[in-house]
Amino acid sequence: MNPSENARKTVQKASRSYYAHLGYYEERTRSAETTKRELDFLEFAFRTHAAHKVRDVLDVACGSGRHVLGLAHRGYKCTGQDFTFEQVKMAASRAKGEGVSLKLLQGDSTRLKFESEFDAVLALYILFLLPDDESVLACLRQIHRALKPGGIMICNIANPFYEGENWFSLKSIQHGHYFTETLVPDMRYISIDRVQDFDPVHGVAWWQETHVIEVPDGVHIFKERERLRLFTYWEMLHYLQAAGFKEVKCYPDWETKSPKKPKAEWLVFVSRKD
Ligand SMILES: C[S@@+](CC[C@H](N)C(=O)[O-])C[C@H]1O[C@@H](n2cnc3c(N)ncnc32)[C@H](O)[C@@H]1O
Repeated sequence: MNPSENARKTVQKASRSYYAHLGYYEERTRSAETTKRELDFLEFAFRTHAAHKVRDVLDVACGSGRHVLGLAHRGYKCTGQDFTFEQVKMAASRAKGEGVSLKLLQGDSTRLKFESEFDAVLALYILFLLPDDESVLACLRQIHRALKPGGIMICNIANPFYEGENWFSLKSIQHGHYFTETLVPDMRYISIDRVQDFDPVHGVAWWQETHVIEVPDGVHIFKERERLRLFTYWEMLHYLQAAGFKEVKCYPDWETKSPKKPKAEWLVFVSRKD
């Protein structure tokens, strides 16, 4: 195994472990309004940017399925893929419980096999987790291939220049640690994150995280590592163009109208295949 293949496997192993252990609890901390706002934005983007009516949608790192489930409820034909078995299993059981039909696959978003099959592809909260720049480009190129002409991809990146408190902002990274406590019915989720390594030249930070989860069946403690790739707006634009997307629009956060002073916690890119 060459050194870069080794490094890639280390990142992927950390990411799988993180989502296998924490995906379920993280999903419970998310408010229904957050997902609704994102779904409304996705439909806005479908109507505004796709050259034809969107029907078939692929989500390349669907997690426990909140976007594919939401879109299936709104009448779209959805396929979700994720490389963490536990996440795919959770998406499948949610689909069964909610009585919606979805196609779910376990697979790596840097090894997509689709060709001109989808009107829209989602790559949400995923690009910053991919292990290296070749993987980012491979993922975007394969998404481009998976789209029908006139179809769109919607992806997002965490904005390192975000001025508020967040684990991906340069402010928190330079501070060296980050703490959150989330209270939802029947659960208290405490996360204590410490920067283990930060490479400002390559824009890569490794976090050492301790998660303490208090639920009625006891207290669960998980220790995980997470790697974060910090992209800038311009870098993302170049990646998208290199992957074959000529028309790219960027929105600050999930609002459909650009606010005067966007807080830009996340940047959302909508790119169309010619
Ligand atoms: C932050 S979660 C986002 C999930 C979902 N897109 C959402 O917004 O709720 C990241 C997901 O990416 C998955 N993931 C990480 N690397 C991946 C890869 N190379 N291929 C496919 N899935 C991956 C993880 O298993 C996890 O479910």
